[in-house]
Amino acid sequence: VIVHKGEHRHFMAKEIHEQPKVVGQTLAQYIAPDGTIRLPAGVDADLRTVDRVSIVACGTSFYAGLIAKYWFERYAKLPVEIDIASEFRYRDVPFGAGNLAIFVSQSGETADTLASLEFAKTHGQRVLAVVNVQTSTMARSSHIVMPTLAGPEIGVASTKAFTCQLAILLCIAIAAGRSRGVLSAEEERSLVRTLAEIPDYMARALELEPKVHELAREIARARDALFIGRGTNYPLALEGALKLKEVTYIHAEGYAAGELKHGPIALIDKGLPVIVIAPYDATFEKTMSNMQEVIARGGRIILLTDERGASLAASSGCSVLALPDMPPIVAPLALAVPLQLLAYHSAAIMGTDVDQPRNLAKSVTVE
Ligand code: G6P
Repeated sequence: VIVHKGEHRHFMAKEIHEQPKVVGQTLAQYIAPDGTIRLPAGVDADLRTVDRVSIVACGTSFYAGLIAKYWFERYAKLPVEIDIASEFRYRDVPFGAGNLAIFVSQSGETADTLASLEFAKTHGQRVLAVVNVQTSTMARSSHIVMPTLAGPEIGVASTKAFTCQLAILLCIAIAAGRSRGVLSAEEERSLVRTLAEIPDYMARALELEPKVHELAREIARARDALFIGRGTNYPLALEGALKLKEVTYIHAEGYAAGELKHGPIALIDKGLPVIVIAPYDATFEKTMSNMQEVIARGGRIILLTDERGASLAASSGCSVLALPDMPPIVAPLALAVPLQLLAYHSAAIMGTDVDQPRNLAKSVTVE
């Protein structure tokens, strides 16, 4: 398949912009006409009987899994064991027989993830792969495959595959909630209606691009950057930092907002941009007080939030990127977009090789 950049300067830009469409396609596979989630045969039965789910992946795919852990706990009260593949495969994991192990991978070829998959199979786990390449080794080695329909992802730094992975993991978490009797039929339908709105919210997030471009000028001059968030915004902070370092080579760290005081606050000075990811949710006030601690020490803030959050933070004097107010399940997918754009525009301003950053490979088949 030959893929063109079209109107975009880089594949990364093209792939960021494709997200409303490909996330919509990915979701449509599992939303039934009656407004419920329909998973591949057998998955509901697995979800009903397991006493926990393991999620294993590398890089950006791992951060998708980390966000999904919050969803499995919230919507299905299902314990989740999650690890990066290069650690998981060497642990003495106490698998219970017949539990479900989910492997998340764009390429379906990452050596450590594949080895972890075989490890889980040997220990009697049902193996479900969330992969973008349907002909991949992982797809062929799994009991169940749920493909992300992101289309070919050329940029080495993953963008659209990530949000498509989130879309599928969300469907699995909601189905688990239904099969385990945690969500009522009405709650499931209401969540599914919200799922169907995700592509629109992502399209609205893309409209922040001119503002993100302005802020990227500042990031492009920084030596380091810090990303913080709570709850699902914490893995997003990790992903925002990873994206930035992959394509700009700027040293970036993602931190749980509450951990700031246990170390990274020592780094705060005028030259360190801090990207605070805090839509108005149950943890908003707590993260705002962490943000105030940074401001009090002369730190420079970019606040990524929603309209409600922006109005409450209006007097703080920081730069604000505000998405529309959105339901909690939408937030991680919509908030990922400005984080990707921030990394992309910073790199484009700096003139790095955005689609093929130095030292990185699209598919890592060494251990
Ligand atoms: C490489 C890529 C990353 C990707 C990671 C995992 O490091 O550069 O973008 O997140 O591998 O790849 P996978 O194909 O398993 O998702």
